[in-house]
Amino acid sequence: MRSKAGGSTDSVDESRRSFLKGAMLSLFSVAIGGISLERFFVPTTRNVPVTSYNGKYPTALLVDPDNNPITASEIPYAIPSSSSYPILVFNYPLQDEPNILIKLRNVIIPNAIHIKNSEGGTDSITAYSGICQHLGCTVPLLDYHPGNSIPFEAQLIGYTKSNWPTYGLIYCKCHGSQYDPVRGPHNLYNSGPAPSPANHSLPQVLFYHDTTTDYLYAVGMNPVNAVIRTHLWQPNGEVYGPEVVEENLSGGTALPYDNTIGNYKTVVVSSSNFKWSGRF
Ligand code: FES
Repeated sequence: MRSKAGGSTDSVDESRRSFLKGAMLSLFSVAIGGISLERFFVPTTRNVPVTSYNGKYPTALLVDPDNNPITASEIPYAIPSSSSYPILVFNYPLQDEPNILIKLRNVIIPNAIHIKNSEGGTDSITAYSGICQHLGCTVPLLDYHPGNSIPFEAQLIGYTKSNWPTYGLIYCKCHGSQYDPVRGPHNLYNSGPAPSPANHSLPQVLFYHDTTTDYLYAVGMNPVNAVIRTHLWQPNGEVYGPEVVEENLSGGTALPYDNTIGNYKTVVVSSSNFKWSGRF
């Protein structure tokens, strides 16, 4: 599977095989989880103007559910041998637009925040849109699975410990799209088994790290390779593909603005028992 990165070596047979696997997986997913799929499908129609943003990205402080700022050092990290990782999710740049927050140890991710760790190495903190570029399934169907936690659905299409990437994948259980967390804005791992006109990288959140307070702020999305799946809407209908290079923030609901901090804020929720234990 690794050799397929970038898709340059795909043969027709391999593409057909991938398509069939995807179709089978899709049917299987619908059969066992039709109700939950329905729940997490997007896009939703965004028809409420967000005039306060003026088309620019908000600066949003990451806080826990008790309204305490999250510090970069307390975010749990994953290493290649990790067998699990909590789902850490926050909305940005608008409400109901989840992103998956990830910290990986001893690897440099392009356009991530890089901080020294207690082992003398470097941690990378980044986040990717939690809305799959294929048909818009979102967390928890789209989730990060580190080196030793291959989801059952990925095993169905042939992934094993020997071909699951070192730092794992962001994997979509709907139809098997795969995104490499260490590749920054160019994170599409392969074309995925699902046929799609919009099957490309997950947009990457850009952070500012205040080294004095250790607080993290989301300050934008990296539009190098793709826009958020829910931002494909255009006045004349949906537009797909890498030719869409600018986010459209003219619809949707703004994040809450906090006058005391002078910025927007966004709450990080989690599947774990960490300080910001949350909804998943
Ligand atoms: S929505 Fe189809 S693979 Fe994610």
